[in-house]
Amino acid sequence: MKALFLVGGMGTRLRPLTNKIPKPMVPIMGKPLLERSILNLKNVGIDEVVLSTCYRAQYIQRHFGDGERFGMKIHHVKEDIPLGTGGAIKNAEEYFDDTFLIFNSDILSDIDLRELIKYHREKAADVTIAVTQVDNPSMYGVIEYDENDYAISFKEKPQPHEITSNFINAGVYVFEPKVLEEIPAGRAVSVEREVFPQLLEKGYKIAVYKGCSYWIDIGTPEKYLQAHIDIMAGKCRVSGLDLSGKGIYKGQGSDIHSSVKIQGPVYIGANVKIEENASIGPNAIIGNNVHIGRGAKIVGSVIWDDVVVENGAKLVNTIVASNCRIKQGCEHYRTVYAEEDSRTMAI
Ligand code: GTP
Repeated sequence: MKALFLVGGMGTRLRPLTNKIPKPMVPIMGKPLLERSILNLKNVGIDEVVLSTCYRAQYIQRHFGDGERFGMKIHHVKEDIPLGTGGAIKNAEEYFDDTFLIFNSDILSDIDLRELIKYHREKAADVTIAVTQVDNPSMYGVIEYDENDYAISFKEKPQPHEITSNFINAGVYVFEPKVLEEIPAGRAVSVEREVFPQLLEKGYKIAVYKGCSYWIDIGTPEKYLQAHIDIMAGKCRVSGLDLSGKGIYKGQGSDIHSSVKIQGPVYIGANVKIEENASIGPNAIIGNNVHIGRGAKIVGSVIWDDVVVENGAKLVNTIVASNCRIKQGCEHYRTVYAEEDSRTMAI
């Protein structure tokens, strides 16, 4: 089986983190989310994927190439203009002649893909949509379904009085290739707003799969930060990461002064230098090649690679993009900070 990742979105809600890099490439515990998602497929025996790119396509092309480095076969299909989620699927049609998976690339979840595929087959569905329950579905695509768990209606970003289900589209689908014939070519199409409702009208069977226990879309800075806190709390497991031992992970080559106060859970990447009397954690995620000066304090924050935090600076519930320098004594609370831009988060 093959999989398609939709990776071409502009990621506007995650700015300024997405000013230079596409949203699927933001690091989750030090590794691009898309890389984590692709590598997860290997565990279920999928080793061929198609990446549907548009915004900052070169960045993704450079990182993954033909996939050999990851033991995968990776194809890139680039759009010159954004075709939307449905148009992007249609544009990759030539790669799919059998049942295949589709993923939005801003999702962190523990969905069991083997179970999802098995379910799709048991339901003899044309499309299966993974759904997840949220308290407030008003920002999402809500799906209503019948007693046999087949979709009966779709509502994008419903008004409060229109909310009749709190199961939302989780951005993970199983498709039968015949469905691709129903998507118009050569123009922007939304799979959520246009394709799914039309498939229903035409009598296609769309099953809903409710098996996600953890799910978050990292499409805003608040959610991006929350995803890290959830991982640190053990709510979502991330492969290759051992936070045992007081919840402290230290990468290779890190030089941490003996006076530094570390309060787990904390993740420290490779080649990190932390100077005396700094205070790190709880919930601090520090990328590779980061220098943290004397007496600096980092709490509830995510710092990307190649960052310098000068002496006495303080970061609380803050995200710092790569190559930034936080000046001596500066304090940032609930801030998203990139070289050229910053903004406050609503948390
Ligand atoms: P926002 O601008 O913050 O809404 O983010 P986004 O542009 O990524 O949009 P959204 O979160 O709705 O996208 C869901 C998924 O579809 C993401 O994985 C996007 O990368 C992808 N996507 C959205 N629009 C396009 C598109 O026009 N082309 C392709 N190839 N992928 C898209």
